[in-house]
Amino acid sequence: MRRKTKLIHGGISSDPATGAVVFPIYQVSTYKQEGVGGHKGFEYSRTGNPTRHALEELIKDIEGGKAGFAFGSGMAAITAVIMLFNSGDHVILTDDVYGGTFRVMTKVLNRFGIDSTFVDTSDLENIKSQIRPNTRAIYIETPTNPLLKITDIEAAAKLAKEHGLLTIVDNTFSTPYWQNPIELGADIVLHSATKYIGGHSDVVAGLVVVNDDKLAEDFHFVQNSTGGVLGPQDSWLLIRGIKTLGVRMEETESNTKAIVEFLQGHPKVKKVFYPGLESHPSHEVAKKQARGFGGMVSFDVGSTEDADRLLSKIKYFTLAESLGAVESLISVPARMTHASIPVERRAELGIVDGLVRISVGLEDVEDLIEDLNRALE
Ligand SMILES: Cc1ncc(COP(=O)(O)O)c(C=O)c1O
Repeated sequence: MRRKTKLIHGGISSDPATGAVVFPIYQVSTYKQEGVGGHKGFEYSRTGNPTRHALEELIKDIEGGKAGFAFGSGMAAITAVIMLFNSGDHVILTDDVYGGTFRVMTKVLNRFGIDSTFVDTSDLENIKSQIRPNTRAIYIETPTNPLLKITDIEAAAKLAKEHGLLTIVDNTFSTPYWQNPIELGADIVLHSATKYIGGHSDVVAGLVVVNDDKLAEDFHFVQNSTGGVLGPQDSWLLIRGIKTLGVRMEETESNTKAIVEFLQGHPKVKKVFYPGLESHPSHEVAKKQARGFGGMVSFDVGSTEDADRLLSKIKYFTLAESLGAVESLISVPARMTHASIPVERRAELGIVDGLVRISVGLEDVEDLIEDLNRALE
């Protein structure tokens, strides 16, 4: 099956009980047993629900793994993944990971004895130098948010294997349509499905895919024990979103390329961050491991005042957190998505006050460019 076909026919694409071409919403918490233990595969919806199962089979197929898992948010998914580890274990993470990932590692999971080190994983030497006897995993976000840094997944996974570590990849920005970390050697891939996978700004969800049966068993134990599962209605919305992921990502790609070209030529824009640019330091790695560069672009307009002026004039880019939906969104990471990162740390990372991040949507690109042009005047 090719990629767009798999988005539609992967997983369990119709209802075996009725033939309905759309898998139904099983809005149910428990299941009748014919005798003790005599059930049809479902006992209780935290442990397993048919609609959630259909989604989990679908994400497993499109990421190319052994088992899929759906959670009530990306953060619930990330927390559950880290719950695979024990007190005293250590994880190495990409330094400009999503602010919420930084927060949960340094303010919540640290209280349970899980230690973390943040490094620029786009340079493999930085990872190597931080491996300790108690290190258990390398956690990569690529491309990163908001600076669009790229880590070589294949090289990092090879290094991880040499040291007996798991490789975990947050694939939210690329989506499984453009990038499949498991094929590159990763053990666990996760998504904030709130973003491109849902695609319509109407669901908060997280997805995880693992590459081996033992890991699947261990991870199902964590999912069922901690219970942060996705409900059937939201599972159904994600299945619907995934059907159009391919066409949405193709259109996003062409809109984004046109916008990047416009921004690069604009005198008020000091710097553009986008992995599709040949001048991007990891452009070749991005080209090697992903089939597209995605719809996220950051650019520096110089100062908080310049950013605020742009925000006050822009019309079609909605000022909002989040990304990856049909409507174009705009944000200022330093005061929004990354506000939970201490100011000194933001400065170290290069998340400057004039940095503006856009998530390019599916409007006519001519309207988006005219809008940016007007707002930058
Ligand atoms: C890259 C990335 N990972 C994880 C998350 C967390 O996901 P959620 O907001 O669905 O909990 C986000 C949210 O913005 C994100 O951008």
